[in-house]
Amino acid sequence: MTGPDKLTIRRPDDWHVHLRDGVMLKSVVAYTSRQFARAIVMPNLSPPVTDSAAAAAYRERILAALPEGSDFAPLMTCYLTDNTDADDLATGHAQGIFTAAKLYPANATTNSAHGVTDVVRLYPVLERMAEIGMPLLVHGEVTSPEIDVFDREAVFIERVLAPLVQQIPSLKLVFEHITTAQAVAFVDEAGDNVAATITPQHLLINRNAIFAGGLRPHAYCLPVAKREQHRLALRKAATSGSAKYFLGTDTAPHARERKEMDCGCAGIFNAPYALESYATVFEEEGALDKLEAFASENGPRFYGLPLNEGSVTLERRKVDVPASIATEAAELVPFHAGETIGWRFVG
Ligand code: DOR
Ligand code: ZN
Repeated sequence: MTGPDKLTIRRPDDWHVHLRDGVMLKSVVAYTSRQFARAIVMPNLSPPVTDSAAAAAYRERILAALPEGSDFAPLMTCYLTDNTDADDLATGHAQGIFTAAKLYPANATTNSAHGVTDVVRLYPVLERMAEIGMPLLVHGEVTSPEIDVFDREAVFIERVLAPLVQQIPSLKLVFEHITTAQAVAFVDEAGDNVAATITPQHLLINRNAIFAGGLRPHAYCLPVAKREQHRLALRKAATSGSAKYFLGTDTAPHARERKEMDCGCAGIFNAPYALESYATVFEEEGALDKLEAFASENGPRFYGLPLNEGSVTLERRKVDVPASIATEAAELVPFHAGETIGWRFVG
């Protein structure tokens, strides 16, 4: 089967990125700004971005780190804590500083120690968000050590997400980086105010990739990849044409030595070949015609933002992905390192 040699779509956005800060920010932001017009920027810095003043300052640092002439727009998020000030959140949203707020269960992942210990205690803040139409972005994993790491998303749905959606049914909610068939079923059955992002890695690898011939730290992210049946459910959802699913890479750079150490960091740096990854999946599923909605339409429609003007083009061309990328901040190992991929981002 041979498809088209060129694929041109409306300029896309990335609805979930980790841009970091300082020299790492300078080293990675161009990979995202090259492919995407806008991106939802995660607030899990150290210390986290927990108020509108910190978010405004972080946005300035991102804009200053962009390549000359870039029109990339970072969309900022507030890191929710047990002490989030609902007034500051609402004011920040009204002023256009905060696009959304991110819920990290305490200790779920990188720099989430300040996250929310009991979501029920945050309901007043979430009710305020529902009133003003501010989206809640959810890292959907329970953190209890007794719950098997591969079950943490499914258990989160039962214990936290289903009750939350029932309690505050009008809240706009994005279930971030979903990894399970249970998450797909939950999102499909929920109202139009519930959507999900899906990463390239969760469409391309299952949990075997983490153990393929040895321990593979560069295939490790959170939530961790699950069984094959879950990957297939995610592929079906992403390519279904449903407006509830959209592109969010969760690109999460860590220095090579921080990934390859004992107790290495979770996160896959997929920004350099993000659209190529997604195009590979959509082509394999015979759904290249659905890529544009997933990458460029469903996200802005959910967030109530205008669609981007302009377009980007991918061409069918074999590209050798390098084993690593040297940056000023660190050596970074990209997703697909050492592989050949079938698409090239032209611009
Ligand atoms: O793998 C991950 N890396 N998952 C997250 O939730 C956080 C991210 C990071 O910041 O490194
Ligand atoms: Zn993330």
